[in-house]
Amino acid sequence: MSLLAIRRFPDPILKRPTRYVQRFDTQLKRLIDAMIQTMHSHPRCVGLAAPQVGSAWRIAVMDSSRHPKTTTTSGLITLINPVIDEQKDQTVQREGCLSIPDFTANVRRATRVHIKAINQSGTPFEIGLSGLEAIIAQHEIDHLDGKLFLDSVENVKTDVFRRKAYL
Ligand code: NI
Repeated sequence: MSLLAIRRFPDPILKRPTRYVQRFDTQLKRLIDAMIQTMHSHPRCVGLAAPQVGSAWRIAVMDSSRHPKTTTTSGLITLINPVIDEQKDQTVQREGCLSIPDFTANVRRATRVHIKAINQSGTPFEIGLSGLEAIIAQHEIDHLDGKLFLDSVENVKTDVFRRKAYL
């Protein structure tokens, strides 16, 4: 097991846009494996982006299967160089983040997204996600653009909540 330390706000790496991956080698595979293990080591963590573990590459992993609100799930998804090219409908839902452990917030997101990305072997793929998975993907891709969920809050006074412990 190689678990990576989680960077927390206000670590400046969380605010920096990431770089597109160009080399699909064993080093990349090791980083992704470690990100997946790190995500799975935190109870109820359903997504992790490279800046959260101190890496500047445009990579995110997500796995909604362990979340209690999950109805349908694609399981583990690795997104390299992801871009959202279509989004539909909107919902407001409570979000949290390992990098901001003391707060949750209501954030407006699209309920359906279409994403273009590359897999670990360097092969491009496209995926349509809905519901919780669409929300997770938008949260993680925001991380890759140097954006945190608190940046997307519409009203800081009514939509941000302090929590006692990260569950
Ligand atoms: Ni996050």
